[in-house]
Amino acid sequence: MYILHSSPLLLALSAAVMTAVSAVNTVSTVPIKTLRNPKHLNANSLTRRYFQKRDGVSSSSPLTNIENDVIYTVPLQLGTPPQSFNVAIDTGSPITWISSSNCTGSGCDNSTRFDCSASSTCKPISNGGFNASYVSGQGVIGNYASETFTLGSLKFTGVAGLVTENDAQFPADVDGLMGLWYYAAEGDVPILNVLQSSAALVNNMIGIWLETSTATTNTAPGGEITFGGVDTSRYSGNITYVDCVSDRPWTIPVSGLTVGNTSISVTGVTAAIDTGTTALLVPETVANAIHAVIPGAVNTDQGWFIPCSGNTNTTFQFGTFKGVIPYSMLAIQSTAQNTDQGNFCLSAAMYPTGETETIEQWLVGDAFLKNVYSVFDFSSSTTRIGFAQLGSGGTSSNGTVGSGSTANAATWTIPSTTVMALQALSVVSILFAAL
Ligand SMILES: *[C@@H]1O[C@H](CO)[C@@H](O)[C@H](O)[C@H]1NC(C)=O
Ligand SMILES: *[C@@H]1O[C@H](CO)[C@@H](O)[C@H](O)[C@H]1NC(C)=O
Ligand SMILES: *[C@@H]1O[C@H](CO)[C@@H](O)[C@H](O)[C@H]1NC(C)=O
Ligand SMILES: *[C@@H]1O[C@H](CO)[C@@H](O)[C@H](O)[C@H]1NC(C)=O
Ligand SMILES: *[C@@H]1O[C@H](CO)[C@@H](O)[C@H](O)[C@H]1NC(C)=O
Ligand SMILES: *[C@@H]1O[C@H](CO)[C@@H](O)[C@H](O)[C@H]1NC(C)=O
Ligand SMILES: *[C@@H]1O[C@H](CO)[C@@H](O)[C@H](O)[C@H]1NC(C)=O
Repeated sequence: MYILHSSPLLLALSAAVMTAVSAVNTVSTVPIKTLRNPKHLNANSLTRRYFQKRDGVSSSSPLTNIENDVIYTVPLQLGTPPQSFNVAIDTGSPITWISSSNCTGSGCDNSTRFDCSASSTCKPISNGGFNASYVSGQGVIGNYASETFTLGSLKFTGVAGLVTENDAQFPADVDGLMGLWYYAAEGDVPILNVLQSSAALVNNMIGIWLETSTATTNTAPGGEITFGGVDTSRYSGNITYVDCVSDRPWTIPVSGLTVGNTSISVTGVTAAIDTGTTALLVPETVANAIHAVIPGAVNTDQGWFIPCSGNTNTTFQFGTFKGVIPYSMLAIQSTAQNTDQGNFCLSAAMYPTGETETIEQWLVGDAFLKNVYSVFDFSSSTTRIGFAQLGSGGTSSNGTVGSGSTANAATWTIPSTTVMALQALSVVSILFAAL
């Protein structure tokens, strides 16, 4: 059983936040861009991340990870006058943090840093330190400060972690992380809780569209995140909602899993829906069952590898919603490589390696999420996640913002970005050297 604490910091800040919010009933749609970071795309890293995250829920050391194949980031401004950053969105962690100007460590060398002394609204919180460990054993250490956040048209006072020691391995273009976890563990003040307590949004929900990247062309994928509603121009049909399990935000029961024509048992299974991770993490028996259906799959001590092209699709069912991971996304194209077996790709369906623990909860990341429109709804005490098929012109009785024409809504065009060039070689050397 995990014990969740309502945060004393959040309670203390609520009054200040109420008066500091510049607008209420706001809807703000912000473009997402994608970066690649192949450094830790492997089952062992994912496993360690999983256990650290799970164990981090009831501790004061929340865990985060951006060490994945693909990172989805958004622009965030902090301070007065605003300083601009690019942060990874992560529905699997609670804190939002940025490297500070006095940061030491290789992780902050190339990132844009926040200067608290240059902001009239930056108020360091005493005893507000945090220490987040990463899958690689590296981490970030810093102090909390209350500060003005500007996210598109949304402006509010929240709590940011200012990192003073950063040994995380980031791409240079990622300056920090935006935790979109909902409940606060000890000492954390997640921005969703702040937005809710300050009634800043029209609806307490975020809608996310993660655009699919094309590994081979390094085109500029992105997507869009809407705070306060959903963007009907990004999906079709209705949104199907599933209630989260009581003690875990953004975790829902899995109702079905089909690979090709084969059903795999999901009795009693729950899954964390996590924008901050690339792949899927399932028990070894399930990974084996999935790959038994995939022609040519090869098991290694680094997990399953599959031919880079194929036709066996994977379908997850949540409630009555069925979302398909096409074969081309199960076979992580950025890992295409030559092995003794020929041209193989790492499979996105990973299982814990290098650990003896069994997993209690599956992890469903971007390999699934980029195939659907997803909604994280914290409007009532029972949080819920909604899914819809990608498309245009969906329906919603709640939180509809279209593509930005609604009053109070702001939409940015998705910037044309440079996706970090992916060196297949570095993936291979990490996969086989780091473990
Ligand atoms: C920072 O950028 C420089 C120049 O691109 C590069 O040589 C260096 O390795 C980078 N440092 C880190 C820690 O990534
Ligand atoms: C670094 O900055 C933070 C917040 O701006 C501050 O709390 C901390 O004392 C500073 N550390 C050093 C060594 O200056
Ligand atoms: C941060 O956490 C790690 C792992 O728990 C620990 O080894 C380290 O001493 C901590 N550092 C600080 C400054 O608390
Ligand atoms: C959406 O929901 C409405 C109301 O329940 C229903 O009438 C309609 O058929 C649904 N549309 C689709 C595409 O499922
Ligand atoms: C899967 O089912 C479809 C429809 O029933 C059938 O056409 C197809 O041959 C089946 N595929 C396999 C590999 O059994
Ligand atoms: C798998 O999905 C792809 C892409 O949606 C589709 O083209 C293909 O027909 C599907 N394969 C099967 C066997 O349904
Ligand atoms: C719309 O929002 C209200 C209040 O947040 C909620 O009670 C209702 O169930 C929502 N309706 C739908 C269809 O999601």
